[in-house]
Amino acid sequence: MRIDIITIFPDFFNNFFNYSIINRAQEKNIVELHIHNLRDYSANKQKSVDDYQYGGGAGMVMTIQPIDECINTLKSQREYDEIIYLSPDGHTLNQKICNKLSINENLIFLCGHYKGIDQRVRDIHITKEISIGDYVLTGGEAAAAILVDAVVRLIPGVISDETSALTDSFQDNLLAPPIYTRPSNFNGHKVPDILLSGNEQKINTWRDEESLRKTKAYRPDLLEE
Ligand code: ADE
Repeated sequence: MRIDIITIFPDFFNNFFNYSIINRAQEKNIVELHIHNLRDYSANKQKSVDDYQYGGGAGMVMTIQPIDECINTLKSQREYDEIIYLSPDGHTLNQKICNKLSINENLIFLCGHYKGIDQRVRDIHITKEISIGDYVLTGGEAAAAILVDAVVRLIPGVISDETSALTDSFQDNLLAPPIYTRPSNFNGHKVPDILLSGNEQKINTWRDEESLRKTKAYRPDLLEE
């Protein structure tokens, strides 16, 4: 998979993508991440990327010219499955959306700033808008980083234990059951006996029941879907 990220803060992503699983996915050539500085595509001398809003109103708007130039340059090099704008107006991100995106070849993530982007960018280029939640961030970069993380870890070969991503919370609209590791008794706080029983069938039944119990307690909305 290749993901191109368009941003006015390219340095934001350096640290984030150089750690742990996302870094290993790049080293294994399973994913290529390319960061594009939007200002490099600005046609004016000041390299500006925003302007006042037609009709008046508070807040600057990201102009169409540099975004159009950047996306057209990328589109001339390969076909893209989705061009995604990270925005609080978008579909709220969930595991189903991540699963679908993880099977794509080429994606563009556009990070917004200020009041947002000129509507014509949406009309001409954007195929999907994604929000990471019902709150407003200062820009789309943190949302794009979260989306990269959530999608890339689902690509086969990225997580070494292949089944691990399949047993995540949300994968079947249920929260994951409690998990434990050594010691079996920590200052009197004991691991449930069933997990030490060696009876796989009983352990699986217990895990299913615990998933359901946790989901009912913390996220009953998931059971209504
Ligand atoms: N940009 C600003 N707020 C956002 C949000 N909640 N999700 C995605 N992108 C955003």
